[in-house]
Amino acid sequence: MLAAIATLTTRLDQALVSAFGPDLAGTDPVLVPASNPKFGDFQANGAMALAKRLKDKPRAIAEKIVAHLEVTDLCEPPEIAGPGFINLRLKATYIEAQLNALTGDERLGVAAVAQPQKVIVDFSSPNIAKEMHVGHLRSTIIGDSIARVLEFAGHDVLRLNHVGDWGTQFGMLITHLQTACPEALTSGGNVDIGDLVTFYKQAKERFDQDEDFKARSREAVVALQSGDATARAAWTALCNQSRKAFQTLYDRLDICLTERGESFYNPFLADVVQELAAQGLLVADQGAQVVFLEGFSNKEGDPLPLIIQKSDGGFNYATTDLAAIRYRTQEDGAQRILYVVDAGQGNHFAQVFQVAARAGWIPEGVELTHVPFGVVQGEDGKKFKTRSGETVRLKDLLDEAVTRSRVDLETRIQTEGREETEEFIQTVAETVGIGAVKYADLSQNRTSNYIFSYDKMLALQGNTAPYLLYAYVRVQGISRKGTIDLSQLGTDAAVHLGDDSEFTLAKHLLQLDEVVAEVARDLLPSRLCQYLFELSQKFNQFYDRCSVLQAEEPQRTSRLILCDLTARTLKLGLSLLGIAVLERM
Ligand code: ARG
Repeated sequence: MLAAIATLTTRLDQALVSAFGPDLAGTDPVLVPASNPKFGDFQANGAMALAKRLKDKPRAIAEKIVAHLEVTDLCEPPEIAGPGFINLRLKATYIEAQLNALTGDERLGVAAVAQPQKVIVDFSSPNIAKEMHVGHLRSTIIGDSIARVLEFAGHDVLRLNHVGDWGTQFGMLITHLQTACPEALTSGGNVDIGDLVTFYKQAKERFDQDEDFKARSREAVVALQSGDATARAAWTALCNQSRKAFQTLYDRLDICLTERGESFYNPFLADVVQELAAQGLLVADQGAQVVFLEGFSNKEGDPLPLIIQKSDGGFNYATTDLAAIRYRTQEDGAQRILYVVDAGQGNHFAQVFQVAARAGWIPEGVELTHVPFGVVQGEDGKKFKTRSGETVRLKDLLDEAVTRSRVDLETRIQTEGREETEEFIQTVAETVGIGAVKYADLSQNRTSNYIFSYDKMLALQGNTAPYLLYAYVRVQGISRKGTIDLSQLGTDAAVHLGDDSEFTLAKHLLQLDEVVAEVARDLLPSRLCQYLFELSQKFNQFYDRCSVLQAEEPQRTSRLILCDLTARTLKLGLSLLGIAVLERM
């Protein structure tokens, strides 16, 4: 592995700061990528800002900076342009040396962080006995990718599934279970209750129509909360049933999660109330125990209360989240907690974080972040629904993507006159279909709403999974055609760049470390998608212009190294998005 080398921009930044000299230490060199490749690779605009302060012409300042700038190992002699921009062009020898160093580096230049943190990513978190909807799918896909990036960066990540496995809805579910599936109450939770969504609807119907049922449901809630064995067995059976359905989906999506549902925090809810009271934050308000929030008010302009304990003694979603914060900071030792939850819950988290902070449950240096995302819309711009207006079942959604990718594949196989086994077709269809669903979600800036379109996500052109997978497959094709094991190109093999498209590709390959660092900081996987998309484009341009297998040595080997680095970068990058690659498609 490479020694933790400072990233290129850090090195250039440092060189510029040194050139400013001690009097101007702390001045921002304003280093940005060049606006046009004609001018080189980077541009430092710091001289402009200094001009005013030093009462000198920016060009004169730029000249002084350049005179002291020591970047000969990295750049061609710097040039000054316009009123005082400093243009920097990377040296071919530098780029080549960096690329050569990557060939032996499994991490492709991405250094592990110097100070690993304990990070909790709270994501997916569906509700038991309710449909896991597309919002949960977004949370699952985005949360998993963020967790993967942080893990790769070297952090100690705990992936928590905060499932909604507690609450008053269990009263009606348990009561319905007593007549619909009585064996579930005695069999230790190992009974097949069937489709829970239908079950939930039936229970709700009875609850709304039947007063006696309603009364018994209320009693069931009390029984469950007081640990009654029968109620507990019914609850366990319901949770197990949901868990099985969730797990099938997680397996198919290759998602790892540790379940720690709302019920886990039950034993700590009383402590939350007690500590809030001890801090003097708790106020009795119309029979409920509340904390009045700072900076939140209702329509009348009165301060808004966060209800901690309801007048009937019950607790809220927010109370559980407070207990969870306390547990995660105190018991898990989390230094950073990320909540990958739809943007609609922004206020909820702002309020809960505020109360936790005032209660002293967020130690110095610990960072809690709501990582919001927008809603999923159909191609008509409305909420994503089936034709008949029902919520789309996630299994159906994935099946549809796979079926469509299979149709595309079979058409291609036929037009190309290929013969493929059923096993091949199935694997490719599944990998492309699932990959396309994930990529379509991740490639959008998560904060905006996202329009779900099977056609767009499965297209072979554009910023899609198939386009990226195809670039990877192209490299594998080269290796097969030339019967070359790309991992065995030899230790003395080296890159020598010539064509512009080679330089462009090479420089892009060197940016992975910065992109990964950015994603770990800003939690925007779309940035990584954009990088991989551009990588695929730059590779395709290179491959269209430069022959590889037909080239003369040493160019041939050099280009094979570029191909290999591209494929490895794609594979690693896609793995951070939770997407698998294929050797052929
Ligand atoms: N179960 C919740 C829902 O479906 C999401 C939970 C998110 N995590 C949390 N700690 N509140 O809306």
